[in-house]
Amino acid sequence: MKGIILAGGSGSRLLPMTLTASKHILPVYDKPLVYYPLALLMLGGIRDILVISSPRDLGHFKALFGSGAQWGLRFSYAEQPRPEGIAQALIIAEEFIGSDHCVLVLGDNIFYGHSLPELLSNAFQKTKGATVFVAPVADPQRYGVLEMDDDGKPISIEEKPTVPRSHWAVTGLYVYDSRAVAIAKSLRPSARGELEITAVNAAYIETSELNAVKLGRGFAWLDAGTPDSMLDAANFVATLEKRQGFKIAVPEEIALRLGYIDAAELARVIEERYRNCDYGQYLSGVLAQASGGAPKMAKRTR
Ligand code: TTP
Repeated sequence: MKGIILAGGSGSRLLPMTLTASKHILPVYDKPLVYYPLALLMLGGIRDILVISSPRDLGHFKALFGSGAQWGLRFSYAEQPRPEGIAQALIIAEEFIGSDHCVLVLGDNIFYGHSLPELLSNAFQKTKGATVFVAPVADPQRYGVLEMDDDGKPISIEEKPTVPRSHWAVTGLYVYDSRAVAIAKSLRPSARGELEITAVNAAYIETSELNAVKLGRGFAWLDAGTPDSMLDAANFVATLEKRQGFKIAVPEEIALRLGYIDAAELARVIEERYRNCDYGQYLSGVLAQASGGAPKMAKRTR
């Protein structure tokens, strides 16, 4: 099982913040945006991850993630020369995917909800066909929209329809068997000049091999593509974290809980990198708890 984080794009709606930096490196409250989809892959049990970004920005991801060993992961990197569509990620990742199945996540998508790890790891285990995750939205015209029958089986999918057939938007998280690469290669650019992921999903509907997982009201699905949605996402994360004392999407914490790193490694990271910050204080609490000390919660942020 391979993971792909697509973190290219032009980020034009976030200009001038994206004049020199990828939006995925920008903060959502207390950590870079890309940590949220990364945590999602980790929670679903994925350790082999390809990061795809633009030639301008790929180096920033290499600096941020390195080899992945600090979290017990393995990162590979590939360039997307121009943002020519989400489905192009599958072509770029062809060699990385090989005969495996893969999980593709967009670098600006944030998911939160009860039992998400179980839901993800079950869905990620599927080695045949494809799975999309759909969420109800008030404005389906802006998204890929999935129509399902009474049993939840997908029957049609449309990109940004003027008259949507449902309110279920397709989120930026997809599971594909290795056939997806050939499907992506067979696509022609759409009217907007992109290889559309909706067309890949439509091909799986044609052979009745598309599954849908509904992320209903108990889940939050956010993206951070505009200044407002970025602020909303930051406020959402800040509200939860301050109230609960738990942080969301901390790779070090997930790696420790999954047994990818041990307490000594975490202690070393805190000492070397995070001595004087709120993030480090939180990690110290995680470490104390794991080492059987008093269950320390994160220090409340002011
Ligand atoms: P979008 O938000 O659709 O596009 P964008 O990031 O280029 O931003 P803007 O519309 O403001 O110019 O992209 C969704 C996600 O997919 C985002 O994380 C970037 C990524 N993406 C790529 O990496 N390559 C692509 O070719 C496309 C279309 C998107």
